[in-house]
Amino acid sequence: MSEILEIKHLFVEYYKRRKIVSALRDVCLTLKKQEILGIVGESGCGKTTLALSVLKLILPVEGEITKGEIIFHGYEMWEEKYFKNKNIITMNNNSLREIRGGGIGMIFQDPFTSFNPVLTIGEQIYESLALHRAGKDLNTYSRIHEEAINSLKRAMIASPERVMNSYPHQLSGGMLQRAMIAMAISCRPKILIADEPTTALDVTLQKEILELLKKLQQELYMSLILITHNLAIVAEICTRIVVMYAGEIIEEASSEEIFCRALHPYTIGLLGALPSLKPEAKRLSIIPGTIPDLIDLPVGCKFYPRCNRSVDSCLEEIEMKEVSKGHFVRCCRVKEKVDVFY
Ligand SMILES: Nc1ncnc2c1ncn2[C@@H]1O[C@H](COP(=O)(O)OP(=O)(O)OP(=O)(O)O)[C@@H](O)[C@H]1O
Ligand SMILES: [Mg+2]
Repeated sequence: MSEILEIKHLFVEYYKRRKIVSALRDVCLTLKKQEILGIVGESGCGKTTLALSVLKLILPVEGEITKGEIIFHGYEMWEEKYFKNKNIITMNNNSLREIRGGGIGMIFQDPFTSFNPVLTIGEQIYESLALHRAGKDLNTYSRIHEEAINSLKRAMIASPERVMNSYPHQLSGGMLQRAMIAMAISCRPKILIADEPTTALDVTLQKEILELLKKLQQELYMSLILITHNLAIVAEICTRIVVMYAGEIIEEASSEEIFCRALHPYTIGLLGALPSLKPEAKRLSIIPGTIPDLIDLPVGCKFYPRCNRSVDSCLEEIEMKEVSKGHFVRCCRVKEKVDVFY
């Protein structure tokens, strides 16, 4: 499988009361074609910032990408949308407009606040279809309408005409999330980023939405980035998992590796906090303390103050190491090329 997105040494900072919030540091990541990648980490670790950076959506008044590259390989040379400059960070506004929604679709964290409340769902889907596909494969208003209905049907909405004419406040949470998914896939993006798509929903709807995302990823040959704070959710559908902590990636491996041979103490802590229904299940473990203040970060390993396996060398800067094929860990106690440590 070849890469569709490469993030290289990405640094993002926000400004808060004249102080700098170091939201992402040295984030390196690749996404392969038609892969489902899970990004997990607790609240405030920088998951949404990473998703917004991929579309260059960090507002200049709030912060900026200070270093790094985001390379999008989604368009082939023979395609009309092919760009010579593949780095999203240095792209011009026309290319960016094409990529946002057209090349990379996004499902935002909260469906209740992500729609425009004064426009119907239909009007909002038309808008993105008109921007990306009018004059290309959709020439008439009736074709745009037909395609909007098709997208809603793909998102398993039983009464698409009614939903098209509804305002966001008239729909339930689950329905609104499906409408959001329909809007995101309507322009046939090559990558779909779903930022906590199930957080605002009750558990019965969570499974349905996850299954829907997987089905659409396969039907439309998309790559999917699923962002969540819940490891159980990524276990359901992701092939590879990236674990983030305080603005850094601390572990990356296939789902099987993460669930069977997690190496970073933080990932081990997250796995220990997963509830189990087995009769022999032990008490859930907790990770003591909280995520550090991103304005005043500790030196060396950022997890060091909460880690029960820390040693003096944790106070030095820690690099990511590949411990076995495709399994990367940022921990000074992990030895290279071994799969058991401590
Ligand atoms: N506009 C902003 N201005 C200042 N700081 C911000 C801004 N947006 C985010 N941050 C800070 O950047 C850090 C990362 O935030 P981000 O929203 O990316 O985290 P997250 O992992 O998505 O969290 P959650 O799981 O709660 O959605 C947090 O410390 C947050 O307070
Ligand atoms: Mg978030």
